[in-house]
Amino acid sequence: MNIHALRDAFQERYGVTPRLIVRAPGRVNLIGEHTDYNDGFVLPIAIDRATFVAGRLRDDRTIRVYSAQFDLEDQFDVDTIERLPDASWANYVRGVARGIQARDLPLAGADLLIDGNVPLGSGLSSSASLEVAVGYALQLLNNFNLLGEELALLAQGAENSFVGMQCGIMDQFMAALGQFDHALLLDCRDLSYRTIPIPPAVRIVICDSGVRHSLVGSEYNDRRAACTEAVRLLKARLPKITALRDLSPADLERHAAVLPADILPRAQHVVTEIERTQIAAQALEQGDLARFGSLMYDSHASLRDNYEVSVPELDLLVELARSAPGCYGARMTGGGFGGSTVNLVAADQVDAFVAAIGPAYQRQTGRQLDPLVCRASDGVGRASIK
Ligand code: GLA
Repeated sequence: MNIHALRDAFQERYGVTPRLIVRAPGRVNLIGEHTDYNDGFVLPIAIDRATFVAGRLRDDRTIRVYSAQFDLEDQFDVDTIERLPDASWANYVRGVARGIQARDLPLAGADLLIDGNVPLGSGLSSSASLEVAVGYALQLLNNFNLLGEELALLAQGAENSFVGMQCGIMDQFMAALGQFDHALLLDCRDLSYRTIPIPPAVRIVICDSGVRHSLVGSEYNDRRAACTEAVRLLKARLPKITALRDLSPADLERHAAVLPADILPRAQHVVTEIERTQIAAQALEQGDLARFGSLMYDSHASLRDNYEVSVPELDLLVELARSAPGCYGARMTGGGFGGSTVNLVAADQVDAFVAAIGPAYQRQTGRQLDPLVCRASDGVGRASIK
């Protein structure tokens, strides 16, 4: 991303230079999928791809915002922020501004220009990076103070109420608080976390299947509803539980009979995945990459068979990775129904890995594969221009 080009584009559009430019990264989750909204654990990294927002304040109450990626502009009054009827990128911006208003924080009019290099729709949380970047730019421009955790919660709230996706906290938390060269073992119940260094001997390789499903939002919300229903039914036997986090796999097995056949496998995925994530974090800390990788494969199988959020292209990418050189483990990452896989690959075999998996995927699906070798990066911050 060229910061100077972004500044020039801002100048050209609004006739003045921006007061600041901020960046917020996308994320890739190493393990712990569909656990965040069950009060469980996740183990993501922020990636070295980000959304950038250039901005300056205006003298009136209007926010004007231009997306270079979509070549579209939106404009709204900060005192009457409405949700747009269609699923538009602008709702992420409006939702964040509305969240700031709702917290009684100062919010003046502003000109904003957005660009970025997080691939859109690949399951790498371009939307969370947009929300957090916009929130942080408005925070600096209006001079109020939010902790990283509060900014993440505000951004998540925007997505829940303005966009209508009942997502958990993982993506926004990483856009706000990711750490260079580290994964975060995040406890989504109380938002405490432990940082775990990514061993220098491995690289994280992302493979975008190229598949995008339009039903992602509603399928996601359905899965979430199944988890809520599982907790409601299990409470009859275990009145103290408030989330699937409160059950071990053995507890669930003991009380499996209270769950209908379509809900039990969903709960099974969640409780085993929460356990796997904690074991995987330990393995990573101990440098046991083989163990970590095998837990990634287990996670994928559970997402495919029990949670049913994979697609054949993601399954194929995982199978191809399994026999590719240097691969410790692979799995689908993010919400699913298309998107990407994450692969843990020996640093000195990345080229061989890519050379093996790319042509095979293309041969079998007709789709080109463009793997992304990424590095764990810091969360939101200023990009340049003091
Ligand atoms: C999406 C959501 C996250 C999380 C993942 C699945 O990325 O935004 O909150 O639930 O799916 O792990």
